[in-house]
Amino acid sequence: DKSGHRHFMSKEIAEQPTVLGDLISRYLDGAEAEALAATPDFAKVDRLVLVACGTAFYACHVAKYWIEKLARIPVEIDVASEFRYREPPITAGTVALFVSQSGETADTLAALRYCQGKADHILAVVNVAESSIAREADSALQIHAGVEVGVASTKAFTNQLGVLALLALKAAADRGATPPEELERLRGTLRQMPGILSQALVRDEAIAAIASQLAEATDVLFLGRGPMYPLALEGALKLKEISYIHAEGYASGELKHGPIALVDDKTPVVVLAPRDALFDKTVSNMQEVMARHGKVVLITDRKGAETASDGTWHTLVMPEVDPLFAPISYAVAAQLLAYHTAVAKGTDVDQPRNLAKSVTVE
Ligand code: M6R
Repeated sequence: DKSGHRHFMSKEIAEQPTVLGDLISRYLDGAEAEALAATPDFAKVDRLVLVACGTAFYACHVAKYWIEKLARIPVEIDVASEFRYREPPITAGTVALFVSQSGETADTLAALRYCQGKADHILAVVNVAESSIAREADSALQIHAGVEVGVASTKAFTNQLGVLALLALKAAADRGATPPEELERLRGTLRQMPGILSQALVRDEAIAAIASQLAEATDVLFLGRGPMYPLALEGALKLKEISYIHAEGYASGELKHGPIALVDDKTPVVVLAPRDALFDKTVSNMQEVMARHGKVVLITDRKGAETASDGTWHTLVMPEVDPLFAPISYAVAAQLLAYHTAVAKGTDVDQPRNLAKSVTVE
């Protein structure tokens, strides 16, 4: 049932404030608070290894920034298909964490099995409670996103980020690595996040207008810095998956190490940049793109738009949010941009060619 939406993907994008709100209250005040408290004592953990595929991997990549910053634990991330065959050494004091919407992804499950008997604890973050990955882990945290039908993952991604943010805060508290007042402030930010996602959804028409022009592109670059870098990768994946437009995500600072050679007056470059401590550096990368006549779509907040929208092709103003957690709300913009571009191109949004919802074979 698409509840009046044209596609499951648009329904699932629209559900995000509700499912994220439900998730945050379950973990902060409700039945899941115990599951979070029962995760390992991170004061005794030396290293975290986060493994997943596709969009779930990008959620891990965002989480690396959060956990290293807030909890000061070294975090290694890898895609499951590489991790499992690399036979990486798993030293004592390692917690291995596997993220999967379906809980059945073959490579992720094989990577989990590789860690059995090696890691101190195996943690799963899943949407399907009775899935293989949930069952074979030592403990599992549910993302409670509800059934996700669209092949392009949307609400599962934001709820994966929700659980991983809560886990980062828990780990930080265990280790005393961030002052308690700061952790409380960040919990407050998470509580406000569903409202921020609702405000982000209001940008739907503005994003559709940008997408109608983006649909003519053959190549699109996405740039981001810090926790927005993995979101640039996710934005590019979402666009290529459903619109079949070639898209690549890069760390903004990598631009002049190669990708800028691709920029010409036909190349849209989507810059995901809330006004954070490194905003000026990203703006200077963006100016390099504009100097080569690249068409910049700047996705930023009000303050960012005030200082940096000159010369952009489009500027989309997102609701204010703590830059640390901006990947959660900016994900909505990336999803809507891909969605409307695909709709403009007339592709099969919910069932893109060559893709399966759950990749249970290698
Ligand atoms: O079920 P999983 O989370 O393990 O799936 C992982 C990937 O196959 C999945 O995220 C895929 O990349 C999506 N189609 C992305 O939208």
